[in-house]
Amino acid sequence: MIAVADSLKGRSFTRVADWSRDEVLAVLGLADELKRLQLAREEHHLLPGRTLGMIFQKPSTRTRVSFEVGIYQLGGTALYLSAADLQLGRGETIRDTAIVLSRYLDAIMIRTFAQSDVEELAENASIPVINGLTDSSHPCQALADVMTIRERLGRLEGLKVVYLGDGNNVCASLMVACAKLGMDFVAATPTSYRPDDEAVRVAREAGGSVELLDDPRSAVTGADVLYTDVWTSMGQEDEREQRLRDLRGYGIDADLVALAGDDAIVLHCLPAHYGEEITEDVLYGPRSAVWDEAENRLHAQKALMALVIR
Ligand code: CP
Ligand code: NVA
Repeated sequence: MIAVADSLKGRSFTRVADWSRDEVLAVLGLADELKRLQLAREEHHLLPGRTLGMIFQKPSTRTRVSFEVGIYQLGGTALYLSAADLQLGRGETIRDTAIVLSRYLDAIMIRTFAQSDVEELAENASIPVINGLTDSSHPCQALADVMTIRERLGRLEGLKVVYLGDGNNVCASLMVACAKLGMDFVAATPTSYRPDDEAVRVAREAGGSVELLDDPRSAVTGADVLYTDVWTSMGQEDEREQRLRDLRGYGIDADLVALAGDDAIVLHCLPAHYGEEITEDVLYGPRSAVWDEAENRLHAQKALMALVIR
């Protein structure tokens, strides 16, 4: 059985910013090892008998399935908790929920709207809380993203990652992760869709170079990674028509990919909207690492859980 360091036991993962470069690298190292074991069908029950509660206030395909399967492969089990079905949906406080769930569970994963709700849950829980996406961040996605970049390109330091489109939650977490790991990050977005100032500040403080541009074609020159995400995030459905108008021209198509480096890969956290932020031919084309990226959600989150759950 592989040994897992216990220095991260009990830690929550609510924002990439709170974790050091070495801590993120510890997750990536273990993720690579767990991926190898899983593909070899070698048992790795690092969390026997542990239970993960998964609170969802927004829909999910990848996050739900990868966490549920992941804890199962580690020897534990998961509970799907729709926020609407919990007393939380009827006004029970986050604090009371955190205290009670800590008596039953070994960790909580939560997908919700406000980042402050996740922080409040983590402050009041005595077990690790993992952020499965908020309006402002998606740190588990960022783990799988950097894992995929390293797997495909063999390194992280010095790579140029260009994010195109809406400077949203996925962009913010990826930007901070890239900055921590020595990558150069460029966000090419319309001015009013730039990533959150706070995330930019945190990324720059982490020592990374972050550029905010508005021309996608000049941004992708020399890029090692092109990244995009949906233009209308969960909860923004009423803005969809406006967003489609504002973001036209920021999608990844074959012409844009041709302007990037010869070995550049394309990532998308999914779900994708063909013909909006990415064309179908690029998504399924030879540069796409999107399906490995989706798979790596499983391995990265298994590593995260194995490191933080007692
Ligand atoms: N990328 C991602 O988080 O996908 P889901 O919304 O399906 O979980
Ligand atoms: N930005 C998207 C990501 C979906 C995984 C959203 O928040 O809906």
